[in-house]
Amino acid sequence: MTAAILTERDNGVLIIRLNRAEKKNALTADMYTVMADAIEQAESNRGIKVLLYTGTDGVFTAGNDIHDFLENTPSGPDSPVNRFIVNMVRTDVPIVAAVDGVAVGIGTTMLLHFDRVFATDRARFSLPFINLGLVPEAGSSMLLVEACGYHKAAELLMLGKPFTAQEALEYGIVSELCEPEQLMDKALAAARQLAAKPQDALRATKRLLRRSREPLAERVLAEGELFSGCLESAAAKEAFNAFFEKRAPNFKPFD
Ligand code: COA
Repeated sequence: MTAAILTERDNGVLIIRLNRAEKKNALTADMYTVMADAIEQAESNRGIKVLLYTGTDGVFTAGNDIHDFLENTPSGPDSPVNRFIVNMVRTDVPIVAAVDGVAVGIGTTMLLHFDRVFATDRARFSLPFINLGLVPEAGSSMLLVEACGYHKAAELLMLGKPFTAQEALEYGIVSELCEPEQLMDKALAAARQLAAKPQDALRATKRLLRRSREPLAERVLAEGELFSGCLESAAAKEAFNAFFEKRAPNFKPFD
């Protein structure tokens, strides 16, 4: 069986490649563990100066694995997904992303924590939480307002409609667009450029840039509590089952 995540070193850059294309790189608990560990590894190993998260050709990630939502419900600060989120919030290690194709749920919200985000013009983003009977996670209820203003954030989070790469650029979720064949070269060049900077000053710069985000950790916890509650709701279970049964969910009985 192929590993669902591949890691590779390019000098000071650690590349973390989501590699479960047959399930659109949907993220399982084991995958979150590798993603969370990578951040801790970079924090304790000065040889890893920058992290680069990417997916496969035409797929970044379809977000949390919905089987796991149904059967392996994540909860508590030590759950793999929450470890990954908390590590993203806390870390001063620079992070770059290369996004091609679908970036759903946490596939979009993780980008709000990263420092440089490259996306192809065929990348497609969405925050479908509301359509699954869920609430925003990973601090996105705060970071999205910061990125694109209250009204756009409300539209994206209250309607859950997918949006294009060009829109993601306008909303401040993506730093730069490129053609699919340029994606890894561009992202890797950006990561190498960061890796060549003086490490302590670079990390201190990231900490300073994030000073105004100090209430974020509290927001992540508040979201996490609501999210876990929603995962147990009849509306969410209906949405997850509807996904696998390839039909539209019916929320009427739960209103
Ligand atoms: N969890 C579990 N399995 C998933 C998944 C997810 N989040 N996303 C996709 N898959 C699986 C599908 O069930 C399908 O498996 P199968 O081949 O065994 O039937 C396979 O991946 C391919 O997905 P499919 O839906 O056929 O691909 P698509 O190109 O038509 O659509 C998406 C791609 C991403 C738009 C669609 O799969 C989707 O909406 N996924 C759910 C996204 C989501 O709601 N994530 C949770 C966010 S909180």
